[in-house]
Amino acid sequence: MCSLMLCLVASAKQVVIETAHLSLVLDATEGKAPAYVYFGSKLSANELNHIQIPVEGRMDAYPAYGLNCPAEPALAIRHADGNLSTVLTVKGVNSAVEGNGTVTRIHLLDPVYQTTVDLCYKSVNDVDMIEVWTEISNGEKNTIHLTRFASAMLPIRRGDVWASHLYGSWANEARLVEEPLNQGILEVRNNDGTRNSHTDHAEMMFSLDGKAQENSGDVIGAALCYSGNYQLRIVTDDTEYHYFFAGIREANSEYHLRKGEKFVTPHLALTFSKEGLSGVSRNFHKWGRKYMLAHGDKERKILLNSWEGVYFDINQQGMDQMMGDIASMGGELFVMDDGWFGDKYPRKDDSSSLGDWVVDRNKLPEGIEGLIRDAKKHGIKFGIWIEPEMTNTVSELYEKHPDWVVKAPNRDVVTGRGGTQLVLDLANPAVQDYCFKIVDDLMTKYPDIDYIKWDANMDIRNHGSQYLSMDNQSHLYIAYHQGFAKLCDRIRAKYPDLTIQACASGGGRANWGVLPWFDEFWVSDNTDALQRIYMQWGTSYFFPAIAMASHISATPNHTVFRTTSLKYRIDVAMSGRLGMEIQPKNMTEAEKTLCRNAIAEYKQIRPIVQFGDIYRLLSPYDRKGAASMMYVAENKSKAVFYWWKTESFQNEHLPRVKMAGLNSEKMYRIHELNRVDLKPLSFEGQSFSGAYLMNHGLDLPYRNEVEYSQKNDWSSRVLLLEAEN
Ligand code: GLA
Repeated sequence: MCSLMLCLVASAKQVVIETAHLSLVLDATEGKAPAYVYFGSKLSANELNHIQIPVEGRMDAYPAYGLNCPAEPALAIRHADGNLSTVLTVKGVNSAVEGNGTVTRIHLLDPVYQTTVDLCYKSVNDVDMIEVWTEISNGEKNTIHLTRFASAMLPIRRGDVWASHLYGSWANEARLVEEPLNQGILEVRNNDGTRNSHTDHAEMMFSLDGKAQENSGDVIGAALCYSGNYQLRIVTDDTEYHYFFAGIREANSEYHLRKGEKFVTPHLALTFSKEGLSGVSRNFHKWGRKYMLAHGDKERKILLNSWEGVYFDINQQGMDQMMGDIASMGGELFVMDDGWFGDKYPRKDDSSSLGDWVVDRNKLPEGIEGLIRDAKKHGIKFGIWIEPEMTNTVSELYEKHPDWVVKAPNRDVVTGRGGTQLVLDLANPAVQDYCFKIVDDLMTKYPDIDYIKWDANMDIRNHGSQYLSMDNQSHLYIAYHQGFAKLCDRIRAKYPDLTIQACASGGGRANWGVLPWFDEFWVSDNTDALQRIYMQWGTSYFFPAIAMASHISATPNHTVFRTTSLKYRIDVAMSGRLGMEIQPKNMTEAEKTLCRNAIAEYKQIRPIVQFGDIYRLLSPYDRKGAASMMYVAENKSKAVFYWWKTESFQNEHLPRVKMAGLNSEKMYRIHELNRVDLKPLSFEGQSFSGAYLMNHGLDLPYRNEVEYSQKNDWSSRVLLLEAEN
């Protein structure tokens, strides 16, 4: 296949970008605009020789504005002389191995202007991912102005195409939307400025043959790897195609590209599966774990985070008690959340102190050293919360550096959380240095810190950088994220082994653009188990369980005030990266025992959950009264099956769930985890063939049968499946 690729590249007509199971074919004839020909399952050499060139749509791989103005452009430039039109034709193609893949570059040139665009396609062979981006270089005599600069455009043949994407809000992140693509425009976008996945997500799936199925059907997956404002736009007009554009959101971000400068757009990761939505998820998860997520190949520790347990009420004795409790339940790490810092302005609530990253000695007389000593005493690791990108008007930092905050010129600051929070201007290299120093100081003084929870609790509300020139105010959003990237690169270069969580008022930073620097993200500030089923379901479309921090918390839940059973909370949290977010001293001995067992059992299934293949089975969004999914180890020797009831009615009728992803030939022995029922399940310890489990499934009792006084309206099951030799 490789020799074919080289010869095609040499003739510079048909360009074939391939992975183990995918082909993307473009026509890149010199002197013409490059055009899409095919994207889908891998084509044989013979099929490539007999491929139909699409005639019914606008297949331009990167449509530029100017000579077909009614069509949606991917690129629009105001040239140095003011000309608004751009024409891009192929100048050449080359292909080379770069890092984990082969990058094919289609070089495009405007015949009249010296500006060039490289369309870049990186095929990451073993995980079936093709990353697409562009590199725009200004060869003109003066600055040019980019007003559109999508990372990529992909035409999708009309038929009965459905889009699956995620929307939400704080405490309700990653809700799944599934909708048919109709005439007109579907736009998913984000204007937050600092974070980008609360209200919507920069990823999408397209089911090509009608409403999506989890485990069958052709599905395209797309994920924009970018931490800032973005837009995904699907334009459906009178042609036979939907046109999918993805990239940085250009509104208020016109980019002025100086002579000789190059602008590189974020990567759009594209994949395709014939195994439905879950098939696309598995591709994203594999690619993500292997090449994107920090430490995607290392098991995550089971932790207790102090936030919902004590909020700002941090003190040394309390931390010691929490550390002792999580250690006694089998946990491996304790994370001290917000509230530990501030000297002149001690952090008592959310209205002060961000930026003053010194220990509040009144709360912690023995400092962080004392806490680390206590963690060691309990045999666990220690982690800490920081929010480096932010300050408050009430802080020593702001008193010293009012010039460091994001603020519109000639206007007062606009504040956020606590009525006083402000965003620091990461466009400013001095701010980048300062943020680096926060982590560097902590890690230099306390090298035993194992984990950092990096929060970001404010959006950019007022457009303005005190660092950028007045001419370049429109660079704020992009420069912020370039600064963020530089900062994170520096931190990772010096502290490659540190575990870092991306938190942003909950799930504001669930995006592949940030995850190369982070080990995981906080899915949501809402820890209610029922609502988490919906949020984690959506999140799992694009992100693997290993990255999804999922904690057992107290009831009534602190956000929705629902009271679920502890068993139910455990069974939901165990489908992600398990942790706890609770005051253990308020738990009964029986509750602690349940958690202790759950932690021990999670340790058994941790590799399956964190490295296994996901198969979603019964969607909570289908409102059938239950939800179910499973993880299967890559060699199919083990699997974990989850089933959670989402409604509770007497004499209800629930579907029997068919499993997926098992080896049909193998016999699987079933063992229930987190058992609370008085009697074992009727099939406990029995074996069934993979084929039977996938074609028929197991009937589960609809309630957990516990002592009368313990009965409640929540029920769930977690089953471990182990193949017999
Ligand atoms: C944000 C986070 C929470 C917690 C608080 C602390 O809201 O999402 O988990 O860390 O900040 O103030």
